[in-house]
Amino acid sequence: MAGHERATPMTARRGGPLRGVAEAPGDKSVSHRALILGALAVGETRISGLLEGQDVLDTGRAMRAFGAIVERSAPGVWSVHGVGVGGFREPGDIIDCGNSGTGVRLIMGAMATSDIAATFTGDASLRRRPMGRVTEPLALFGAEARGRRGGRLPITLTGASDPLPVRYSTPVPSAQVKSAVLLAGLNAPGETVLIEKEPTRDHTERMLAGFGAEVSTAVTVEGRIITLRGQPELRPQRIVVPRDPSSAAFPVAAALLVEGSEVRVPGIGLNPTRAGLYDTLIEMGADIEFAGRREEGGEPVADLVVRFGPLKGVEVPPERAASMIDEYPILAALAAIAEGVTVMRGVKELRVKESDRIDAMARGLEACGVKVEEGPDFLIVHGCGPGGVAGGVTVASRLDHRIAMAFLCLGLATRAPVTVDDAGPIATSFPDFMGLMRGLGADMSE
Ligand code: S3P
Repeated sequence: MAGHERATPMTARRGGPLRGVAEAPGDKSVSHRALILGALAVGETRISGLLEGQDVLDTGRAMRAFGAIVERSAPGVWSVHGVGVGGFREPGDIIDCGNSGTGVRLIMGAMATSDIAATFTGDASLRRRPMGRVTEPLALFGAEARGRRGGRLPITLTGASDPLPVRYSTPVPSAQVKSAVLLAGLNAPGETVLIEKEPTRDHTERMLAGFGAEVSTAVTVEGRIITLRGQPELRPQRIVVPRDPSSAAFPVAAALLVEGSEVRVPGIGLNPTRAGLYDTLIEMGADIEFAGRREEGGEPVADLVVRFGPLKGVEVPPERAASMIDEYPILAALAAIAEGVTVMRGVKELRVKESDRIDAMARGLEACGVKVEEGPDFLIVHGCGPGGVAGGVTVASRLDHRIAMAFLCLGLATRAPVTVDDAGPIATSFPDFMGLMRGLGADMSE
């Protein structure tokens, strides 16, 4: 198993109120993109606030293998000396992307239009995830992929020697697929056009524009049409990575779960393509203040103040799914403590994340004594109300950081403690999760 060798069980128990400031780590999506676009620019890109989680470190290592110089000068402060669009060299060994779907899919895109080959792999979770969703559009540029049955890793991708620009409509709402196509389009002549029916996170488009690429988005009845002019010279940037709204969701949820809590969560990225959870929490009656709204590093951010209070079940609009796709595990945990039923539909993408998150949440919540219903693309949680969830179980985290963190947060409010069998995967996205939660007063221990 890449990433970590030994399972680390972790237990969360009910205790006193959570108080203080929760400084969430840098945004994982933005961090991957900063390293990859930095590697494709000519000159030195400086990044501050980079997430130093294993997923992003694996992407940094991969960028070195493709020829970029990637260096760390202080915590979160990194520089990337890029090789320019089309300048990737062929890696001398296998690229191991660990647990990261974003890492492997974006890097495959970034190399698919260079005349080099690379072999990609990852941990047991990543080797189960579908890659055909990126290798199929990359084949339209002229790249060739050979992997295991079902489009699974390990995969060897041979980049196109004479790439063609592509017009592609994504069949799944996925920013990873969109980004892989746009990154491949960078080294194709002419215009690459990507059409997405449902809007997904737009960090790649924003950052490409910041690096000086010609990229435009038209909002039409067909969806969003993104046009990129190929073969630009990307200019190195100074990038300030905002704090990750998906990671911030855990201390936010913990404050909502534990009676008497009040937690400040400063500088959280609230890009509208990412912030769906926060709209949902407000609909559930959560007491959250958004102060100091501003822009940092091309992304909208705000300081949050979160206070404990009763939550009610809601029906989450399916069209909101893409903007909170990583937040369903923690939402399901909150729904268990809410009064009433929470209905999550249009969420079949959850089945192909780091784990099958519908199944992982359903089985874990059932074990905790919560009634759930699930189907191919929905999850319904019958809330037990505050103090109503039994707990007293060990839940499988399935190599999935967000499943582990969701159940540890839930365990702060269940009648008996909740243990996750392996908290190791948390290091992929939130290396100091335990330190931060304990600093707020949470009772979490190995
Ligand atoms: C991500 C996109 C999402 C998300 C993942 C990060 C990204 O995946 O789940 O954690 O950075 O582009 P999909 O694009 O597959 O939905």
